[in-house]
Amino acid sequence: MASPQTGIFALGTSSHAYLEFDLAAEADAPSAVAMVASLREPRTTIGGVNLVAGFRPELWAAVAPDAAPPGVAGFNEPLAGAGGYVLPATQHDVVIWLTGSGYDVVFDLSRAVVVALAGVADLANEMVGWPYHHDLDLTGFIDGTENPTLVEAAGVALIPDGSPGEGGSVLLLQQWEHDAIGWEGLPVQEQEGIIGRRKADSSELDPVPASSHVGSTDQDRFGKIFRRNIAYGTLLRHGTIFVGFSRDQRTLQAMLESMVGMAANAPDRLTTVTRAVTGAYYTIPSAERLARLSDQVNA
Ligand code: HEM
Repeated sequence: MASPQTGIFALGTSSHAYLEFDLAAEADAPSAVAMVASLREPRTTIGGVNLVAGFRPELWAAVAPDAAPPGVAGFNEPLAGAGGYVLPATQHDVVIWLTGSGYDVVFDLSRAVVVALAGVADLANEMVGWPYHHDLDLTGFIDGTENPTLVEAAGVALIPDGSPGEGGSVLLLQQWEHDAIGWEGLPVQEQEGIIGRRKADSSELDPVPASSHVGSTDQDRFGKIFRRNIAYGTLLRHGTIFVGFSRDQRTLQAMLESMVGMAANAPDRLTTVTRAVTGAYYTIPSAERLARLSDQVNA
């Protein structure tokens, strides 16, 4: 298999930054993409930072058509469900996900990336995430129970060898702000009905309510994805950064459509207590393809 950007699978780091950039008006798209591709993780094995780079799907397809998964599109229009619930579209041109052992090293590298891209791409949005009690999200539930293991994750997240974009992935990146007061005011049993799992041990309710979150995103129905969700925020505004990888954008999109009630089911009840404030899709190229582009910069 064409080798992926390894940061996708580097679990266990305690600090994350997601930097979304727009190309500068005067930037030339191929040179800008090559410049992003040339960004490097610092060469250290201790306290290092992983760097994952991605591009607005249409931008990547224009610059590297031979390595673009067909039919992948940006989050270009808001997604409105039957009940008027809307997922906003806040697509940008480039995403850089930095993750490391502490925010000091992530912060330093974030600044270095912004400086390196000056004049080429402008920082348009920044999100900083941190793990909450190991594997909980800020609802207090375990997040990731039905995630594939690391052995299975490559098969779920990566475009297979022989297909255009091999070794790459499609990322859905969304910031969701929780209504913490509303959520915490609900009895635990009610919360469990909304998630579709028990709060204490993440065991699945039997039967799973169709309008629960697990019922709305059932991977047996839509296909599998690999999630790297993380908590973010401060007391006043906080929630979940949804970070979902798939080899096939349609799987992610079908889950979103189901959550807002566009599929044949009622909207996901999770949407009554959390709302998406950003939403973007990015093509994540393989490590090899990025290296080939970056060679052009260094040549
Ligand atoms: C505020 C945002 C979100 C929160 C707090 C959240 C939280 C959770 C929790 C607690 C679970 C149950 C445990 C687990 O299997 O991980 C879960 C399952 C899942 N979530 Fe989310 N999630 C959010 C958004 C999303 C979005 C936007 C998607 C898809 C686009 C999604 C896809 C899934 C999938 C596929 C599962 C596993 C379903 C299965 O059992 O097959 N989630 N999520």
